Amino acid sequence: MSTPSPPVHTTMNQFSTAGNELLVGGLPLSRLAERVGQTPFYAYDRDLLRSRVAELRAALPESIKLHFAMKANPMPAVVGFMGSLVDGIDVASAGELKIALDAGADPREISFAGPGKRDSELRQAIAAGVLINVESFREVDLLAGISRELGLPARVAVRVNPDFELKGSGMKMGGGPKQFGVDAEQVPELLAKIGKYNLAFEGFHLFAGSQNLKAESIREAQQKCYDLALALSHHAPSPVSFLNLGGGFGIPYFPGEKRLDLTSIGQNLEQLSQRANMDFPGASLVIELGRYLVGEAGIYVSRIVDRKVSRGQTFLIVDGGLNHHLSASGNFGQVIRKNYPVAIGNRMNADRTEIASVVGPLCTPLDILADRMTLAIAEPSDLVVVFQSGAYGASASPQRFLGHPEVVEILV
Ligand SMILES: Cc1ncc(COP(=O)(O)O)c(C=O)c1O
Repeated sequence: MSTPSPPVHTTMNQFSTAGNELLVGGLPLSRLAERVGQTPFYAYDRDLLRSRVAELRAALPESIKLHFAMKANPMPAVVGFMGSLVDGIDVASAGELKIALDAGADPREISFAGPGKRDSELRQAIAAGVLINVESFREVDLLAGISRELGLPARVAVRVNPDFELKGSGMKMGGGPKQFGVDAEQVPELLAKIGKYNLAFEGFHLFAGSQNLKAESIREAQQKCYDLALALSHHAPSPVSFLNLGGGFGIPYFPGEKRLDLTSIGQNLEQLSQRANMDFPGASLVIELGRYLVGEAGIYVSRIVDRKVSRGQTFLIVDGGLNHHLSASGNFGQVIRKNYPVAIGNRMNADRTEIASVVGPLCTPLDILADRMTLAIAEPSDLVVVFQSGAYGASASPQRFLGHPEVVEILV
């Protein structure tokens, strides 16, 4: 069933169109697909990455250091590019550390957090000279031994599990019992141990939550993180030179969600930065962001393989889905599945639309990219675009599930 309707424009206005084609990195999507040589693929747009960082810098005080949490997008070319725009890279494993170092990141500006760092990862981190956000008493014991053995300093910050959480977050990472960091009430004892071992203490890392669109909640968490760090600093073996207040900045994925308003967050950070001048003279005040920096700059592109109607419902079956884009399928932490923004990327101005579902090639009903959305009427070989796909895409998906080809990633 088809209905005449106004032209289908993408809801994601960070990308422009030329005629029926979505433009990515200045190229019409169909041509880009030819250039890539296959579908599915992810494409990340350099100009959008650059402008996102510039907007953020303009809204935040100059004194705030911006770190890229590369877990959001560890594609080496993206990490290299982001490394040239931000002040530091946060890694979550020795694997990510390798990518960051290969990309040319300065080890002094890399920090390493993660709740289960293996002994070998701690050795690698000391040898690389990066800052280790310690998350347990075991890590501190091990680092002391490795540092002695290698004759190299162990640069450490304490990752604190705060006694509050980031309200309204898609994912809560602090408050209550958590596997992340060390409970705030145990931190004084840990700091004493760090002092006893003479590790190179630099400061604190607090990360309360992720994917938050409420500026007020983010401000509140930043204030509380700051106050907690200040209280804990009285137990520190040496002055705090590094204070990572976390991130949590979200991006809109679903209908009705609005972009985060940065103005008040910037003002809040300005105040904290002034307080830090007194409380922690000379210290770096850091925020670490993943999806906010890269999420909106990326799209996932698949090609329609088949089109069928089942009992009145139209299905567009594409050549990739959950195996490449678990998040868009709704299986990466969502409680209720909602549609990411989706469009037919070579029919952006089509004047006829229909309600259709876009599903992947996997033999599971979970493999859905769009559930009954209004889309341009499309045929096999057309290109389906999932927007807001620059974060937690390829690397967060079970690519080997059911043996389909791996996705390609490009930076344009
Ligand atoms: C310690 C830490 N830093 C950064 C991030 C990145 O979060 P986001 O991509 O939402 O900014 C996470 C997400 O889980 C995290 O655990």
